[in-house]
Amino acid sequence: RPRARISGVGGCLPRQIVTNEDLAQRLETSDDWIRTRTGIRQRHIVSEGENAVSLAAQAARNALEQAGVGPQDVDAVIVATSTPDQVFPAVAVRVQAALGMRAGFGFDVSAACSGFIYALSTANAFIGTGMAKRVLVIGVEVFSRLLDWEDRATCVLFGDGAGAVLLEAGAAPGEGILSTHLHSDGTLGDLLYVDGAAGTGTNSVLKMQGREVFRHAVVRLAEAVDEALDANGLCGADIQWLVPHQANLRIIDGMAKRLALPAERVVVTVDRHANTSAASIPLALNEAVRDGRIRKGDLILMEALGGGLTWGSALLRY
Ligand code: ACO
Repeated sequence: RPRARISGVGGCLPRQIVTNEDLAQRLETSDDWIRTRTGIRQRHIVSEGENAVSLAAQAARNALEQAGVGPQDVDAVIVATSTPDQVFPAVAVRVQAALGMRAGFGFDVSAACSGFIYALSTANAFIGTGMAKRVLVIGVEVFSRLLDWEDRATCVLFGDGAGAVLLEAGAAPGEGILSTHLHSDGTLGDLLYVDGAAGTGTNSVLKMQGREVFRHAVVRLAEAVDEALDANGLCGADIQWLVPHQANLRIIDGMAKRLALPAERVVVTVDRHANTSAASIPLALNEAVRDGRIRKGDLILMEALGGGLTWGSALLRY
């Protein structure tokens, strides 16, 4: 059974930065409130000429370039997003076109903030069955479109961006993706949702019961971390890097504590990117690989929880 490894990473952030101070000028909030509750200092927000496809395509180009692979050698593009530019074609198919690909296949995955883990797991399964040899896995969000900019309880939390990895067959045993685990519980769907499917005439802004989401995140992510360790016969001390979904510094710190990982072994971008939903894990991975923190052979745990609720983990040796 072919095994998959990550051969390239890429990221793309919108050029416009919006700081907490900027928000405090038009909302009843403060840098201090946002920072102490969430760890967020600023976020990137799309402006003229930027959208889900343009961000995703640029992140993909960066990942391909690092891998030294041309788009014609990619078999599939899987995009995790809750904020496509259109109902269809899928962002993935538009990205294929932007990269000049006319072969292979592409589709989008909808799993909110867990989307990248879902897409990575799907790509890993395609490679495992031999249906594809090289898959671009992209997380992209333009969450700024879904926000009620008058609602201080939600609009301060999110940002826009894209991250990508190229997943390739050919990992040796004990390398590459070691396990993925996915979960969802639709009975908790009303804790965090966005109405507004095309044609339904409903209002499409994000609604969240923040405290409840926080409570479930801590419990479910702790279970997910234990599940990943148990499945691989590992303990927390074996993990070299935690690359978590970046929703909130307090949730991230809680998971690091559970693994007994020192802060320097946890990749944090939430301070500068805020919560970019499906894009946050590949953006964080991209940063830590490119600045030389994560190296070949390092054992990495990724985890995420989001609307659905959905949650899951991926364990890999880079
Ligand atoms: N600025 C100032 N005051 C605010 C703001 C703001 N931006 N937002 C809310 N408040 C006020 C509230 O109105 C409330 O005031 P009140 O007591 O007078 O009614 C007070 O602050 C406390 O509000 P809570 O919502 O109870 O604050 P809490 O301490 O729970 O923090 C937060 C809110 C940061 C959203 C927290 O619940 C959280 O992080 N939850 C996780 C949610 C999350 O990360 N979701 C992302 C998607 S899911 C995921 O990715 C994991």
